[in-house]
Amino acid sequence: MTTPIVTLQDHEHAAQAVMSASAWAYFSGGAADEISLRRNVLAWQSQGLAPRVLQDLRGGHTRCNLLGKTWPMPLLVAPMAHQRWAHHEGESGMALAAAAQGCGFVLSHQTNTPLNKVASLIASEKDRGPLWFQLYWLTDRGAMRDLLQQVESAGYEALVLTVDAPVHGVRDRERHHGMALPEGIQTPHWPAPLNILAASHTAKVGLCAGLAAVAPTWADVQWLIGQTRLPVLLKGITHPEDARQAMAIGASGVVVSNHGGRVLDTLPATAELLPAIVDVVHSQPHGGAVLVDGGIRRGTDVFKALALGADAALIGRPALYGLAHAGARGAAHVLRLLRDEFEMTLALCGCPTPQAIHRGHLQALDPL
Ligand code: GLV
Repeated sequence: MTTPIVTLQDHEHAAQAVMSASAWAYFSGGAADEISLRRNVLAWQSQGLAPRVLQDLRGGHTRCNLLGKTWPMPLLVAPMAHQRWAHHEGESGMALAAAAQGCGFVLSHQTNTPLNKVASLIASEKDRGPLWFQLYWLTDRGAMRDLLQQVESAGYEALVLTVDAPVHGVRDRERHHGMALPEGIQTPHWPAPLNILAASHTAKVGLCAGLAAVAPTWADVQWLIGQTRLPVLLKGITHPEDARQAMAIGASGVVVSNHGGRVLDTLPATAELLPAIVDVVHSQPHGGAVLVDGGIRRGTDVFKALALGADAALIGRPALYGLAHAGARGAAHVLRLLRDEFEMTLALCGCPTPQAIHRGHLQALDPL
């Protein structure tokens, strides 16, 4: 008899069993020594809960407010590239899974499925979560405007600009196994990547000089914000001063993220970075949304993210693992587990709703 799948870790094992070594290295791997990758998980685990008993839980729900709208759950699927490499249902399967569980979905710029196809699958679902589009800076402003226009008319509700990865990062596991996308897998909205490293070598300039020509600056981001009617969130914010600057140039929110430990190793965990950024963003005159990703593996982790002040959390690899071994059903099951665990945590901590969670529901754990 096979053991039933009841945890996110079970999904991870099932995924590893069916994925190629190269896909496994790409999706599960992190940068360099993977210190940040591991620390993201450990930092949630090392926060203790401080439940209150005998609270009145009548009228309880899991609803949350993001960018002025109410959604069923404070949980979104993080943008992840190449989901058809994980499973043939790809981004379509993942989006359907998210919508079925009342979770949000952030489509990656490096999607293997056209953005209008994904939007048309779930945009009219009544009980879905937010539908957002993640993008990288494109040096060609005409191409950027054209992409923004497609995203807006397809029905996406916000843009998530990734700002922490002007280069890919040092990914040893990926380099060991090679990253060859299987035949037939395309990225319809992603221009052929500019190999900055090779270009820098050819021009005999350092990586930074090569990068300077293409990497965005605050002024570029401000231009982008002015080009769209959609709210723009900056993803990959780890410094409170960057959060302050993001709000000052008109961003609608930030995603506290170290890119799942995939770009610059030895950054602190996102659970460690979150509180100082929350303090900055929530003290701005117009406020703003703060989301967090990285290392969330339990409903208690979602609860802890909210206790530290996040408005919602994003879940990456575990949803991908569910998709990899069982398509949309697998991804939906991962999200269902997190939902159920989160709801149970709310009840056990004495919180009828996510709005009742606060920092007092956490307590430091002394190292054993
Ligand atoms: C892309 O954003 C990646 O982390 O591989």
